Amino acid sequence: MLKGKIAIVTGGSRGIGAAVVQELASQGADVAVIYAGNQELAEKVCQDCRDRYGVRAGSYCCNVADFEAAKETVAKIKEDFGRVDILINNAGITRDKLILMMKEEDFDAVLNTNLKGAFNMIRHCSSLFIRNKGGRIVNVSSVVGLHGNAGQSNYAASKAGIIGLTKSVAKELAAKNVLCNAVAPGFIETDMTKELSGAEESWMSMIPLGRAGAAREVAKAVVFLADADYITGEVLRVDGGMGM
Ligand SMILES: NC(=O)c1ccc[n+]([C@@H]2O[C@H](COP(=O)([O-])OP(=O)(O)OC[C@H]3O[C@@H](n4cnc5c(N)ncnc54)[C@H](OP(=O)(O)O)[C@@H]3O)[C@@H](O)[C@H]2O)c1
Repeated sequence: MLKGKIAIVTGGSRGIGAAVVQELASQGADVAVIYAGNQELAEKVCQDCRDRYGVRAGSYCCNVADFEAAKETVAKIKEDFGRVDILINNAGITRDKLILMMKEEDFDAVLNTNLKGAFNMIRHCSSLFIRNKGGRIVNVSSVVGLHGNAGQSNYAASKAGIIGLTKSVAKELAAKNVLCNAVAPGFIETDMTKELSGAEESWMSMIPLGRAGAAREVAKAVVFLADADYITGEVLRVDGGMGM
């Protein structure tokens, strides 16, 4: 049970992040939901958590790619909730293009949000965790970060980077009881994969379980790692066997 724990979830307004927020709240955690622009959706997720689970929940607009904005948001969450125990780095975007067509801004945007965003949040939460004598970080990577994918070199680089970041932070902060893990989802039904409609059949042929995953199935793995005491530096695939 996570009763009384305070969790930050980036990208918590939709998809996997919203499912993580719900799962954390269902186990009694208070939740701070960071979003990029969808205020109405983020507030709806929070309202739902307050109504269904009686936890505290608040939404915060923040571009996680912005170092100073991330710092101010973490400070505001600490002020509002009193402490921070769990950080879930889930915010992510895609700008898919074949390498010969990929613009510099496509590469930068994806790396800045997916990888630098996670760094920014870890950087600003770590001192709070150390002061609290403990903390849990779960980063959302992807099977694409483990295996690569044509048309997603920027995204794959960001998600492979997340794995290196996870393992390094895990080694650095283990002695402070700050544990850092990652999940690597496969093909999960969210707004992000809606854009891939058409390519869906070729994805399904690669999944031994023969179906796309649900956001809630990833959320369960994320929350398992957020509550684990003897697992750190691990990358847990949640992909229906795709990455075997
Ligand atoms: N879906 C999949 O099949 C799949 C597979 C492997 C890994 N993943 C990873 O799982 C994570 C969630 O994916 P999803 O499919 O749930 O995505 P999604 O439905 O597109 O939702 C993305 C979330 O990230 C937020 N966000 C985007 N840019 C941000 C920024 N700069 N600052 C703060 N928040 C930002 C969005 O906020 P707004 O709502 O305000 O825009 C939204 O809450 C991503 O890291 C993704 O790479 C997804």
